[in-house]
Amino acid sequence: MASPNSVSISILSLVLVSVLSISTFFIPEVEAIGVNWGTAASHPLPPPKVLELLKANKINKVKLFDADPLVLESLSGSNILVTVGIPNSMLRSLNSSLKAAERWVHDNLTRFVSDGATRVQIEYIAAGDEPFLESYGEQFYPFVVGAAANIHTALVKANLANKVKVVVPCSYDVFRSESGLPSKGHFRPNVNKTMMELLTFLSKHQSPFFVTLSPFRSYHEVKNISLDFALFRERARPRNDSRKIYKNSFQLSYDTIITALSRAGFPHIDIVIGQIGWPTDGAANATSSHAEEFMKGLMDHLHTRSGKNLSPQDLPMEIYIFGLLDEDQRSIASGNFERHWGLFTFDGQAKYQVDLGQGSRKLVNAQDVQYHSSKWCVVNNNLDLSNATALALDACSAADCSSLSPGSSCFNLSWPGNISYAFNSYYQQHDQKAESCAFGGLGLITTVDPSVDTCRFVVELRASLSVPLHGHTLFCLIISPMVTILLYLIRDVFS
Ligand SMILES: *[C@@H]1O[C@H](CO)[C@@H](O)[C@H](O)[C@H]1NC(C)=O
Ligand SMILES: *[C@@H]1O[C@H](CO)[C@@H](O)[C@H](O)[C@H]1NC(C)=O
Ligand SMILES: *[C@@H]1O[C@H](CO)[C@@H](O)[C@H](O)[C@H]1NC(C)=O
Ligand SMILES: *[C@@H]1O[C@H](CO)[C@@H](O)[C@H](O)[C@H]1NC(C)=O
Ligand SMILES: *[C@@H]1O[C@H](CO)[C@@H](O)[C@H](O)[C@H]1NC(C)=O
Ligand SMILES: *[C@@H]1O[C@H](CO)[C@@H](O)[C@H](O)[C@H]1NC(C)=O
Ligand SMILES: *[C@@H]1O[C@H](CO)[C@@H](O)[C@H](O)[C@H]1NC(C)=O
Ligand SMILES: *[C@@H]1O[C@H](CO)[C@@H](O)[C@H](O)[C@H]1NC(C)=O
Ligand SMILES: *[C@@H]1O[C@H](CO)[C@@H](O)[C@H](O)[C@H]1NC(C)=O
Repeated sequence: MASPNSVSISILSLVLVSVLSISTFFIPEVEAIGVNWGTAASHPLPPPKVLELLKANKINKVKLFDADPLVLESLSGSNILVTVGIPNSMLRSLNSSLKAAERWVHDNLTRFVSDGATRVQIEYIAAGDEPFLESYGEQFYPFVVGAAANIHTALVKANLANKVKVVVPCSYDVFRSESGLPSKGHFRPNVNKTMMELLTFLSKHQSPFFVTLSPFRSYHEVKNISLDFALFRERARPRNDSRKIYKNSFQLSYDTIITALSRAGFPHIDIVIGQIGWPTDGAANATSSHAEEFMKGLMDHLHTRSGKNLSPQDLPMEIYIFGLLDEDQRSIASGNFERHWGLFTFDGQAKYQVDLGQGSRKLVNAQDVQYHSSKWCVVNNNLDLSNATALALDACSAADCSSLSPGSSCFNLSWPGNISYAFNSYYQQHDQKAESCAFGGLGLITTVDPSVDTCRFVVELRASLSVPLHGHTLFCLIISPMVTILLYLIRDVFS
C-alpha cells in the first residue's frame, strides 16, 4: 500500500505537471523536484557515480554551476534535464562581446545538445550565480542582462533557442519588505533598475525567474524569524498580513517575491526556486534532524497547497534542492555551514530520509564508492604539544575544519582531539601522503578510526584514474619542459 505521503507527493507532481503544461508546454517532460549538483569539493564523487545516485533516487533534473565537460559527458544519453551555469566572473566578457558568447555556446553547449544517443538535455543556461547578492556590491550589475542577451543571441544563431532558455539565478536579498510582511514586498532599491531590465528580458523570451529561498539564512542571519516558523512547525506563531495568515517562512518569502514581481509589472512570470535547503553542520541548528524536518515540512506544505484551488502563481513551477552533496571547498565567507548543504554526504550517503516525490521511498546511497585506505592522521599525545595549536590552525587554513566550529558536529572534541581532527583533514585532502602527516614530528598515522559520536574523521575518496589530465597540467608536465629545453638549445646556438 502506498503511504499517504507518497500519494500526496504524486498529487503534487500531477498538479505541478498540469500547471507546467499550461504555462510552458514546450518543455517535453516535467518533474517538479530537482537538485543542485555543485563540484566545489577536494575529492568530488566521480560524475558517473553521481549519475547512478541521481538515477537510483529518480531525480530527473539537475542544476550545475558551470559547464564541466566531464560532468556533461556523464549526463549524456540520460533523461535528466540539465541547467548549466556560467560563473559571475565571465559575465563581463560575455556582455561586451557577442563573439565570446558564441564561443561559450559553441564550446560548452553545441556538441552536447546535438541530437543523437549521447545528447545532454540542456534546458536552461544560468547566466551568473546570484550576481546581485548584496555582499558582492554592484560589481556585476552592469553586465548581467547584456551577458544573458548575448548568450540568447548566440543560441538563436546556433539554432538552439527553441531548446535552451537563458535564466539568471537571483538571491533572495534582491527583495525587501520593511515590515517583514509579503504585502510590502519590493526590490532592493539599488537593484530595482537592473531587475526591471532582467524581468523584461526573461518575459520577452518566456524564461522563468530563478530565485533562491533560504529560510535557514533568514533564521541564522536576520534572526527575525523563529526556528518553528522556519521549520514549518505547527506551533509556530503565525504572522498576520491583514489579508493572509502566514504559518511558515517559506510561504512568507514566496509571497514577498510575488508582490514585488507584480508591483514591477510581471505578475504572471513563472517562478523557479533555484536553490532551497537546510545545512546539517557548521552552525548551531544546522543539524540533520532539522534539515529532515525542513525538507519534510516543505514537501508537505507544497502538497497541501497544491490540493487547494490556487492560481499557478501560488506555487513555484519547479524546485531545486540545494544541494546534492557536501562540498568541502565552498567558500565559508558567510559561514561554516556552507560546506554542509548536501542531502548526501560528500561520498553520497544519505544524511536523513525524505520522500522527494520521485517514487522512491527511501533515499538510496551511492554504491561501491572507492575510498583511500582506512588510515588517519592524529596528533602524538606523548610529545610536547606546545606548537600543536599553531600547526592545526595552519592545517585548517588549507583543509576543511568547518565541523570544529561552535555548534558543529566536532565542537565537543576536547583538546587535543580537535588538533587531531585538523591534522587528519589536511592528511586526507593530500591523499594520505606520508609527508602531509608530518606536522614537525607531531603527526602520527593510525589505522584506528578516531571518530567519536557525531564527529566523523573522514577518509577521502580515491581519485578516479579515468580523470584525464587538465590542459594546464599537461602543459606543465610535457610542453613546458620541452619549451625549456628548446630555449637552452637556441641559447647554445646563439652564444
Ligand atoms: C555591456 O555591453 C554593451 C554592448 O557591447 C556595451 O555597450 C556596454 O558598455 C557594456 N557594459 C559595460 C559596463 O561594460
Ligand atoms: C566553457 O565553460 C568553461 C567552464 O564553465 C569555461 O571555463 C570556459 O571558458 C567556457 N568556454 C568558453 C569559450 O567560454
Ligand atoms: C521583524 O519581524 C517583526 C515582526 O515580528 C517586524 O515588525 C519587523 O519589521 C521585522 N524586521 C525585518 C527587518 O524584517
Ligand atoms: C523601480 O523601477 C520602476 C521602473 O523603472 C519604477 O516604476 C519604480 O518606481 C521603481 N521602484 C523603486 C522602489 O525604485
Ligand atoms: C489580522 O489583522 C487584521 C487587521 O490588520 C484583523 O482584522 C484580523 O482579525 C487579524 N487576524 C488574526 C488571525 O489575527
Ligand atoms: C539554535 O538553537 C538553540 C536551541 O537548540 C538556541 O538556543 C540557539 O539560539 C539557536 N542558535 C541560533 C544561531 O539561532
Ligand atoms: C615550536 O616552534 C618553534 C618555532 O618554529 C621552534 O623553535 C620550537 O623548537 C618548537 N617547539 C617544540 C616543542 O617543538
Ligand atoms: C556537546 O556536548 C553538550 C554537553 O555535553 C551536549 O548537550 C551536546 O549535545 C553535544 N553536542 C554534540 C554535537 O555532540
Ligand atoms: C582546540 O581546542 C582548544 C581548546 O578548546 C582551542 O583553544 C583551540 O583553538 C582549538 N583548536 C582548533 C584547531 O580548533
